[in-house]
Amino acid sequence: MRALVIGASGQVGGALCLELGRRGHAVVGTHARTAAPGTVHLDLGDAPTTERLLGETAPDWVFCAGALTHVDFCEAHPDDAARLNRDGPRAAAQAAARLGAGFVFYSTEYIFDGTAGPYGEDDRANPLSVYGRTKWEGELAVREALPRCLILRTTVVYGPERQEKNFVYQVIRHCREGERMSVPADQVSSPTFNGDLAAASVELVEHDARGVYHVAGTSVLDRYAFARLVAEVFGLDDGWLAPVPTARLGQRAPRPLRGGLRVERALRVLATPLRSAREGLETMRDVIAPLGKLR
Ligand SMILES: NC(=O)c1ccc[n+]([C@@H]2O[C@H](COP(=O)([O-])OP(=O)(O)OC[C@H]3O[C@@H](n4cnc5c(N)ncnc54)[C@H](OP(=O)(O)O)[C@@H]3O)[C@@H](O)[C@H]2O)c1
Repeated sequence: MRALVIGASGQVGGALCLELGRRGHAVVGTHARTAAPGTVHLDLGDAPTTERLLGETAPDWVFCAGALTHVDFCEAHPDDAARLNRDGPRAAAQAAARLGAGFVFYSTEYIFDGTAGPYGEDDRANPLSVYGRTKWEGELAVREALPRCLILRTTVVYGPERQEKNFVYQVIRHCREGERMSVPADQVSSPTFNGDLAAASVELVEHDARGVYHVAGTSVLDRYAFARLVAEVFGLDDGWLAPVPTARLGQRAPRPLRGGLRVERALRVLATPLRSAREGLETMRDVIAPLGKLR
């Protein structure tokens, strides 16, 4: 397969490029502001350039991991969020349709309101935030643009990552440096190992799967419990982690609280394992510790 990964400089896109390469697929990856090695620049908000890049690379599948992912920034900048989370993916999906390519769109648990998780694929979307709403609108736009599409919803993605910015790295840094970290004890979700998400994505595409799948870890736990597990697995002092209610964090965007994603549909078709939080963290530790990558 020839694959185009939009957002290859990010956590999910980076893991995808590795996995595609490992499985012998040809990959072109893009970045926006952080030029990862070997990637080309693309602003997903620029539809003509997006269409031109698709024409030049002639992908069999487009993996759209590019997005405006900062939830509170989206809340303050709804037009930017709509441009990058809905309109850009729609234009890319339409261009893919014209080329006969398939399209993978990454979406989120934040399309749900967090009153009754963990959620299945057919549960009702009711996003609370601009980020969640624009990602939901992105799903609808992509599905309308082409039938050969795969919507993969995920949440709290972690694992080895070039930019070292995911939640697990943040916990490690705070505990290492002896800095207090407030962690919400009332946000429940399903932490997802990025390597599993990447492998599951490629496997689903190899099966020419279509429709909506939840691809997430198999543990459903609150963020404080997850942070404490990080400290345990990495041998750190969890005394620096302070449990707080989400309401005390003063975040601009509301968060779904009782979330989490049910993954039975994906597990029925995948050979790729979806790890528990402990298994994923142990794998991450085994990858990054020998590299001295615990800043
Ligand atoms: N991480 C999670 O916990 C999580 C949870 C649920 C869903 N998701 C979804 O998974 C996907 C990937 O997330 P991620 O964790 O990899 O996010 P990330 O690390 O923040 O990466 C976002 C990617 O989007 C790119 N991007 C930003 N602005 C762009 C623009 N104007 N044009 C083109 N690309 C642009 C970024 O490029 P630069 O870095 O070069 O600017 C980066 O490659 C997103 O669709 C996100 O909504 C992620």
